[in-house]
Amino acid sequence: MTRIALVTGGTTGLGAAIAARLAKDGYTVVVTYYPGDARVIAGLAAWKKAMADAGYTVKAYPVDVSDFDSCITLAADVQAGVGPVDILVNNAGITADASFRKMTKTEWDAVMHTNLDSVFHVTKQFVEGMASRGFGRIISISSVNGQKGEFGQANYAAAKAGIIGFTKSVAAELAKKGVTVNAVAPGYVGTDMVAKIEPSILAGIVAKVPVGRLARPDEIAAVVAFLASDDAAFITGACIDANGGLYFR
Ligand code: CAA
Repeated sequence: MTRIALVTGGTTGLGAAIAARLAKDGYTVVVTYYPGDARVIAGLAAWKKAMADAGYTVKAYPVDVSDFDSCITLAADVQAGVGPVDILVNNAGITADASFRKMTKTEWDAVMHTNLDSVFHVTKQFVEGMASRGFGRIISISSVNGQKGEFGQANYAAAKAGIIGFTKSVAAELAKKGVTVNAVAPGYVGTDMVAKIEPSILAGIVAKVPVGRLARPDEIAAVVAFLASDDAAFITGACIDANGGLYFR
């Protein structure tokens, strides 16, 4: 396996699980992390040790995915340091939950920039290379809440719904170039992002999930790994739901 996979936000939460799964599958994996987030920086050494202990060699690059120029620099560094990116996983994302009447412009902007503008900023760097080489996989992490909405998530749900529209449009444009473009819409996953929800609210959410539990990060990573594989060559413009049945409630 010589393919190179890049996972944004790949040192924490779901992104770390995706990076580990792709490394296990034999890809050369590169991740990005946001140097402006103290929690991410605090966890970097432990993440590096976990990767080394598992026998994976994964390079990590700092980037602010909400900033286009930062993504240009990232792409140049990855190209020079590792090589051309074949698989892009747009995973980086944040929440800034608040009911709409309380939501500030800052909370709206932060989530739109980090969760949706980022998909443009990062994908733009790698799409020409993929198209010219005749192979590519662009996989973006949406959310069940981009499909059904959620109390307190007007910003997040709008961004995650936007990812689905982006995916379908770019898929149509790249279909003849060997590049597939898909989204994955996870439900509630057992990560720090979900752990931030107030426990009684989270209990109410889990009670509504038909399978009765949070997803394990590796269960979502498996969907991403499938979309990255040659077996998924005929799947493009899709949004794969992995939500424990929540969408159907
Ligand atoms: N559903 C219905 N009513 C709700 C509610 C909910 N989820 N949350 C609060 N309310 C009600 C309250 O009972 C209260 O009612 P009264 O006025 O009659 O007393 C009123 O709404 C309070 O409104 P506030 O604007 O004051 O809400 P708040 O500030 O107390 O809480 C919130 C808002 C912090 C967003 C809280 O609702 C919350 O944490 N919701 C969960 C959001 C969520 O699911 N986030 C997912 C994060 S993980 C993720 O995003 C990953 C993924 O892809 C799934």
